[in-house]
Amino acid sequence: MPRNCCEITDNAFSAAEARSELKSYRRRGPANQTNLILEAIRSLGLKNADVLDIGGGIGAIHHELLEDMARKATHVDASSAYLKEAKAEAARRGHSERVHFIHADFTEVAADIPEADVVTLDRVVCCYPDFRRLLKAAADHSQRALAFTYPRETWYLRIGFKIANFFQGLARNPFRVFLHPVTEMDVLLKREGFERVSLRRLFVWEMALYRRRIV
Ligand SMILES: C[S@@+](CC[C@H](N)C(=O)[O-])C[C@H]1O[C@@H](n2cnc3c(N)ncnc32)[C@H](O)[C@@H]1O
Repeated sequence: MPRNCCEITDNAFSAAEARSELKSYRRRGPANQTNLILEAIRSLGLKNADVLDIGGGIGAIHHELLEDMARKATHVDASSAYLKEAKAEAARRGHSERVHFIHADFTEVAADIPEADVVTLDRVVCCYPDFRRLLKAAADHSQRALAFTYPRETWYLRIGFKIANFFQGLARNPFRVFLHPVTEMDVLLKREGFERVSLRRLFVWEMALYRRRIV
């Protein structure tokens, strides 16, 4: 794990990109894979839940969940550009007092962050080299459920990711995308006390919902 991972990720997401994602969210609502997470979390039937959204980007998950089932949210993100837009949207919705924003690599600050009922990571593991460290820290913070999206292990994404990383290398940009092994992520979460209760697929993204096993 490079020590400057947060800096690499921060530089990977530009202010223009973040602004354009917020614009698209305001016009069209959450992206398809984000909707899968929202549906999965809502299916749990929780009320007044605390949400921890890791790598939440422009904050679509907490903007939506704070409208009905969530009481408060923590949004930890390595990207300052995304956090700026997420904060602006939270203010526009009157949610500023209910969201705690933290600019950091989650794995570096996890020890200082309280547990939540629900932990979400939407398109985040694929930006992070050490999925074991990230998912273990995320699982440690979830009291009830964890939902995340990740790219599917398909031939077309293997090729696509290789090409994307090749061009990142040519541009001397240290940011890389990762197609992590789904079975290993599943084994890790089961070892941490979760069971998978839902799995849904789009062309690129897969969404898995895990619930903490009751012992
Ligand atoms: C592809 S974007 C997805 C943003 C948002 N979740 C969405 O789906 O629109 C990946 C996000 O994860 C964040 N990220 C990646 N690794 C992270 C880490 N270790 N800690 C905190 N944020 C991280 C990035 O800063 C970025 O905001």
